[in-house]
Amino acid sequence: MKESIEQLKQTRDLPDEQLLQLIDHQGEDTALFEAADQVRREHYGTDVFLRGLIEFTNYCKNDCYYCGIRRSNRCAERYRLTPEQILSCCDNGYAMGFRTFVLQGGEDPRNTDEAICSLVDQIKTRYPDCAVTLSIGEKPRSSYQAYFDAGADRYLLRHETATDAHYRRLHPAELSLENRKRCLFDLKDIGFQVGAGFMVGSPGQSTKELLADLRFLQQLQPDMIGIGPFIPHHETPFAQEKPGTLELTLRMLSILRLMFPYVLLPATTALGTISPIGRELGLKAGANVMMPNLTPTDARKNYDLYDNKICMDEDAGKCRGCQENRVKSVGYRIVSDRGDVRR
Ligand code: 5AD
Ligand code: FES
Repeated sequence: MKESIEQLKQTRDLPDEQLLQLIDHQGEDTALFEAADQVRREHYGTDVFLRGLIEFTNYCKNDCYYCGIRRSNRCAERYRLTPEQILSCCDNGYAMGFRTFVLQGGEDPRNTDEAICSLVDQIKTRYPDCAVTLSIGEKPRSSYQAYFDAGADRYLLRHETATDAHYRRLHPAELSLENRKRCLFDLKDIGFQVGAGFMVGSPGQSTKELLADLRFLQQLQPDMIGIGPFIPHHETPFAQEKPGTLELTLRMLSILRLMFPYVLLPATTALGTISPIGRELGLKAGANVMMPNLTPTDARKNYDLYDNKICMDEDAGKCRGCQENRVKSVGYRIVSDRGDVRR
């Protein structure tokens, strides 16, 4: 890479043409990773934050073409954790040093506002020093407001892709990019720390779509950005599609770190799935968050978004230990902290 590290740090000011070139770059990305790592260290040192992921329901009323728990997948074995099971995941996680719990699930019609608010309230009462993150999809503004009032701190809702045409390629007509964006801006406006994001290498995605993702994120200015490679699931319409690559995902992670120096950026499970050292490389490319799985193992194997998902059999303790070693192996350190954004 010819550009100097100092030039790369100006990535957020690049015009479209040059940003496209950076996304498309062929060959060594060493300078890009180095620049991203410097920026990450300026803001977060070597700290890596943990999020305890609780996949509490795989019922979903949506039918996204890429997703293994889409409603049309009759082979998916459906489950829902009870509030008691969820609280017990938190107890377990707290003892292991987690200070953020992420409640993630499909758009399960049983997730009434009352049920979610009661759950959030119970977790926050038991663990006032912890952050609660929700990741349960598109809702009316009034529901988001109720979750916030109940004490939820953060919300993850990937936009998935920022162009209308590509959004329609990935989703059935009943879902729209317009509503997805409405949700994200509502969440921000209400006061949540908000996470957006997209899959890398999803069917029909070109550099043009990735550029649109970056520009949309500049508009939204989220606190967290979740990206990972698209990975086909055998029971979906995208079963025969090619997965996203490690190279492009790492490059996008670095570009995101350079454009959003403060952002909380996870080295995702999907990244660890396409390469055995994907998450370690993700950390070196600018990521600063890891999300070990706290879901009980018998349920977790059914939270099957894409094929060959890792950590399916490892219990929470094993996953936590494994991630600690991985983080250490590349020179960073896990901190037991809520890990709020440092703007
Ligand atoms: N490959 C990679 N990521 C996927 N997700 C859903 N299905 C897949 C897949 N097949 C991601 C989506 C979603 C997040 C929870 O998981 O981006 O927002
Ligand atoms: Fe889950 Fe390695 S991170 S087992």
